[in-house]
Amino acid sequence: MQLIDGKSLSKKVQDYVKSEVEILKTEKNMVPGLAVVIVGDDPASHAYVSMKEKACKNVGFYSIAHKMPDTITQDEIINIIMMMNKNPHIHGILVQLPLPSHIDTNRLLEVINPVKDVDGFHAYNVGRMVSNLDSFVACTPLGVMKMFDEYEIELEGKDVVVVGASNIVGKPMASLLLNKNATVTVTHIHTKDLASHTRKADIVIVGVGVPSLIKEDMIKEGAIVIDIGINRLESGKLVGDVDFENVAPKCSYITPVPGGVGPMTIAMLLENTLHSAKQFGEKI
Ligand code: GUN
Repeated sequence: MQLIDGKSLSKKVQDYVKSEVEILKTEKNMVPGLAVVIVGDDPASHAYVSMKEKACKNVGFYSIAHKMPDTITQDEIINIIMMMNKNPHIHGILVQLPLPSHIDTNRLLEVINPVKDVDGFHAYNVGRMVSNLDSFVACTPLGVMKMFDEYEIELEGKDVVVVGASNIVGKPMASLLLNKNATVTVTHIHTKDLASHTRKADIVIVGVGVPSLIKEDMIKEGAIVIDIGINRLESGKLVGDVDFENVAPKCSYITPVPGGVGPMTIAMLLENTLHSAKQFGEKI
């Protein structure tokens, strides 16, 4: 069994982004800029946003966080996004999800200029990704693809089961795998017999937020297991969606939690923002 080390791969990507930022500063006199919009006081969302701000600072990006109370109206958030769309110092805009229930998430995401949509959630980018065209791609599934690449894990013809069908993880994950010619099954909360699918899979990718959902008897010998879940137990311990201790010995590769997919999400956000800034730089 080999661990897929997201922490060190993330560091490698961040070092690369940092060196590219230096070059952009010297050659184009430009600094990549990211705007983050966060609404409400969900502690987990605030923790993620703090990590994103810290990572931006670390690689030399300009970043601003618009932190709004959940009494804010949809129109007020739209105005902020439209200001960021026009701001020449901002190359990436990210609206932290989930949003409070009085906000229409899809409506907001569609206000973001697709060329600044570094989270890849705008329907324009989703459509292009599904069609296997150049696009911004959601950071978590993109981070998983980067891991496959780094560890030279071949996807063509593999049976892959994705557990979870959200717009931000499961669906884009399935599209990216399909683009690499994997045979993809997407399972979700209404799937009748989850284990009957996962047991046959060469690769299982799970991100649903249920601790220990994937158990030893649900995985075939030598499978690759990617755990996107991040759950905090009452004890304070951080765990994924996989019963790691019992599943790991059966796997050829597995991602740990923490230190697996989590750090890759931030690394991909930085890479997407750098890419956006470079595209703007080409237009100068
Ligand atoms: N909430 C959970 N994951 C994500 C993410 O990747 N991006 C944003 N914007 N919100 C999230």
